[in-house]
Amino acid sequence: MTLGVCYYPDHWPRERWAQDAKQMKELGIERVRIGEFAWSLIEPEPGRYDFEWLDAAFDTLHDAGLGVILGTPTSTAPKWLVDQNPGMLPVGADGRVRGFGSRKHYCHRNATYRQESDRIVSALAERYASHPALVAWQTDNEYGCHDTTRCWCDTCRSEFRTWLKDRYQTVDALNEAWWTVFWSQTYRSFDEVELPEQGVTETNPSHRLDFYRFASDGVVGYNRVQVDAIRKHSDLPITHNSMGLFPDYDHVDLVDDLDVIAWDNYPLGNLEESPFPDDIKQKYLRVGHPDLVSMSHDLYRGLKNLPHWIMEQQPGQVNWASNNPLPAEGAVRLWSFQAFGQGAEMVSYFRWRAAVGAQELMHAGLLKHDGTPDQAFKEAGIVNSERAAFDGDTVRERLSSAAAVQEDAPVAILVDYDDMWSSQIQPHAQGFGYWTAMFGLYEPLQEMGVRVDLVPKKRLTMDGDRGRSLDGYKLVLAPAMQITTEPLAKVLTDYVAGGGRLLLGARAGSKTASNLAHMQQPGHLSDTIGAQVVRVDGLRPGVTRTVTAGSQTWTYATWGDLIDASGGAQVLATYDDPACQGSAAYVARSHGQGEFRLLGALLDLPSMRSLLKDWLNDLGVRTWDLPDGVRRHGPYLANYLGETQSALGHTLPPFGVVKLDLGE
Ligand code: GAL
Ligand code: ZN
Repeated sequence: MTLGVCYYPDHWPRERWAQDAKQMKELGIERVRIGEFAWSLIEPEPGRYDFEWLDAAFDTLHDAGLGVILGTPTSTAPKWLVDQNPGMLPVGADGRVRGFGSRKHYCHRNATYRQESDRIVSALAERYASHPALVAWQTDNEYGCHDTTRCWCDTCRSEFRTWLKDRYQTVDALNEAWWTVFWSQTYRSFDEVELPEQGVTETNPSHRLDFYRFASDGVVGYNRVQVDAIRKHSDLPITHNSMGLFPDYDHVDLVDDLDVIAWDNYPLGNLEESPFPDDIKQKYLRVGHPDLVSMSHDLYRGLKNLPHWIMEQQPGQVNWASNNPLPAEGAVRLWSFQAFGQGAEMVSYFRWRAAVGAQELMHAGLLKHDGTPDQAFKEAGIVNSERAAFDGDTVRERLSSAAAVQEDAPVAILVDYDDMWSSQIQPHAQGFGYWTAMFGLYEPLQEMGVRVDLVPKKRLTMDGDRGRSLDGYKLVLAPAMQITTEPLAKVLTDYVAGGGRLLLGARAGSKTASNLAHMQQPGHLSDTIGAQVVRVDGLRPGVTRTVTAGSQTWTYATWGDLIDASGGAQVLATYDDPACQGSAAYVARSHGQGEFRLLGALLDLPSMRSLLKDWLNDLGVRTWDLPDGVRRHGPYLANYLGETQSALGHTLPPFGVVKLDLGE
């Protein structure tokens, strides 16, 4: 459990730095991230570097016994660089150039900007690689933030054509992969292909999916430029700070070039901007939705199957959401232990001191504008004083042993960015969203205290270190797994044959890798499961319907896959709505030592909880009856409501967290 803070010495008079550093140290802070927006101070004019102030900041922090995480400053290119190279500016889908004046004003594929990034990063790496204070690097800041993953500039247009050529070799192959026979889209050469999303109406979903992949590759390639530049001088860990459930680039690809992945945790801002209904936003107004935060932790821990970092932890109110409430007293402590309990190794607060000017002047820090402690300062101090007693989780060992996984995280949920994009491109029902579908399975498990791993689907078909296996999981859930291929179907079938249980959720196997419809759904698995989705029902928000499952009635909304089980599957539930004509909603088929299940309806929370609870208990997995708003985070128990609660023999004060006695 390491504590950190994000600090901008460049914003404050130098006479204050030593005091700040001393105070950080006393608070228990060990790592300080600096530098990530300071390009115009590091290089005030083309080619003239000013390292003097940054040297002094490094030395000051070092003298106080603090380690430095140095952020590369490429999120904020100086004005002179933009004026020299206006072609680096990104272009929106509307064709408008997105200009200077905030941040992230660059196209990831612009060759000049890549060279300039290599130059500034190399200069920093050369200068600071051997500074004794340096402990890690952060590349750039929040790739894709402010909608910058996808760009419609001339460079992107021509590189997209090259990318397509590499992927398809011949234009005939592209025409076939995209089914361009529809609406007279047939291309005669790659040079005829435009960037999508600029058409009169919806452009071809296969074209869009490839554009999303291409844009994601642009981010990954850009990051690699920085990693390569750093690696020439330093072998300290390289990380990047990503954003929770941010969907626009494939994080599985990004992390292959990083030593550790970090994300920035803003529970209140993220809840406010999420699609949760108003009653949930009110319920968790001052502490955020516990499961939204935990799911992000599980996602990042799963990307590399290693402990992750929180690079920026919300300290008080933020400035960027539609509404920016104050966190509850205790929330910062709660979020910190939640992070550690879900597998984080570092929690670093954003920011040390509130900025008195510019865009973020309404954002809280550990210190207030005037430099006196704010609430979060006190809570960070409490975390520091308690962490020795709270320590003792074995996340690292757990992640390295399949047997330990089975013991502690019996359930895996598959996650995949191609599936996310495919759902986004054609949701077919207003309420249908990838994360919403995933959350429908994740939340009930959290309510029952069951630890979950999010496993990148893509890794299942990779070899060597990048690959992952499902061995050890008692139950694997695949929500909104639209895209299936033959190799994936084989891995899943082998897992089931060997005794695994696999639940395929709505829309499973509906699409091919190029976003065409599979002739049969779920793709290559339908013969083995003995069932096929024959029709689909996309419902408007507010409409709910039921299915009958033996003696139970379950409720669903948004989506129903109508299943024909005549291939040999056993029907476990059927739709009640006359429009569905008695079709199956939920079926099972044993295979080898294990079992497949296919669930076509997006069940509501109580229904899904009941389904999972019965199944887990049949499989011998322990579930807990936790009170509303109480969650287990590995070795801790936390209360997300503003009233005292008791659970598992512990008394939990409002927004309190205690070390769980697992021996009970
Ligand atoms: C993050 C960003 C920080 C700061 C913060 C404010 O997204 O990385 O630089 O803007 O939000 O909450
Ligand atoms: Zn571009």
